[in-house]
Amino acid sequence: MKSVGVAILGLGVVGSGTYKILRDHREFYKETQDVDISVESVLEINKQKALALGIEESRISDNIAEVVSNPNVDIVVEVIGGVEPARTFVLAALHSGKSVVTSNKELFCKYWHELERAAKRTNAGLYFEASCVGGVPIIRTLIDGMQANHIRTLKGIINGTTNYILTRMAKEGLGYQEVLKDAQALGYAEANPAADVEGYDAAYKLSILSSLAFHKKVPLDKIYREGITSVDRKDIKYGAELGYTLKLLAIGKNGEEGIEARVHPAFVKNKHPLASVNGSFNAVYLQGDSVGDIMLYGRGAGDMPTGSAIVSDVIYAATHSDVKYSTFKNSAGAEKGVRFVNDFRSRYYIRFTARDKAGVLAKVAGIFAKFNISIVDLIQKGEEQDNVPIILVTHETGEMSLRRAVEKIRALEDVVEVNSVIRVED
Ligand code: HSE
Repeated sequence: MKSVGVAILGLGVVGSGTYKILRDHREFYKETQDVDISVESVLEINKQKALALGIEESRISDNIAEVVSNPNVDIVVEVIGGVEPARTFVLAALHSGKSVVTSNKELFCKYWHELERAAKRTNAGLYFEASCVGGVPIIRTLIDGMQANHIRTLKGIINGTTNYILTRMAKEGLGYQEVLKDAQALGYAEANPAADVEGYDAAYKLSILSSLAFHKKVPLDKIYREGITSVDRKDIKYGAELGYTLKLLAIGKNGEEGIEARVHPAFVKNKHPLASVNGSFNAVYLQGDSVGDIMLYGRGAGDMPTGSAIVSDVIYAATHSDVKYSTFKNSAGAEKGVRFVNDFRSRYYIRFTARDKAGVLAKVAGIFAKFNISIVDLIQKGEEQDNVPIILVTHETGEMSLRRAVEKIRALEDVVEVNSVIRVED
């Protein structure tokens, strides 16, 4: 039986989960995968944390050079997160010819080409299943399950923190700040929640997923990004009246015009499969030209789900001698040959506050007509006040036309405020 040694860099939430899975399933992997995987080394400055997990003192190190030069280590698991020192450590491991398994979406999204170049030099493997959607095997699905397909659309809820917040806002009628505080107290959101709530985490993942799905490099700066910090509970309520659920969606499309990639809050119809993905759960919906529609659903974060993805890569690296790299041109600046769409098409929900007097709606409708934007739904809330909320939903239109129309509406004398513009996805 083949024996394989692993080093884990960082015993945080995911590192500890990974260690526990490898420790508790060692016999199971011997039986089912014909490989004996042992944790030979951990890089962790908090020695007590490592000892508490039952790791022998001789295997605990605070020196990356020592870890990557250990001849018993074949695979290095990086679960530190962020760019530095993770990038330096991963490069050190690859330069030493060790295969690397990582959960680091930010590092991978920003430095994939550099890491891959280093890996190719020493014929080392580079595995990143855990970087996107935690325990959900989306990377292997795209690389090893969907290769037969041209993938046209990828749509997902790929951030659990924001999905938890939006779900509670919808179900309990609470405001964003109130739920955020609760989410932080419960450990669902970080003390500094920006990476999640501003949509960066989802954008990192979308960059990786859409590059794999469309076989073209989709860098972070080509992804349109809006987070959930300005979501108003009123819109969740009015959206529900129209039959919609609000989600932070990551959307990638590969069409005639080029690739579009965007992360923003969007309404989906209640009957769409993504509408029922609640709490901290994640899901990714793919459309392939041969297979049709598929959806993967599961936990996108946490010690054991993300540990599951890490360990699946460790087993893959341990049992496959061939090394696979990207199926697209993955050099610095490779996106220069790729066409990207900025003026994407969508339907839109718009809420504005107007003075309750004759002719206001006619003026708004006139502006939409001028921009060739057709209205599907319109609700005016008769609240017997001078200023009333008006909600309308458009047919599909171009983002730029919509923005210009909204500017004209904002400038109308009888429009007090344009409160919200939210995309509506079919
Ligand atoms: N913070 C992420 C989320 C998990 O809330 O989904 C790690 O990417």
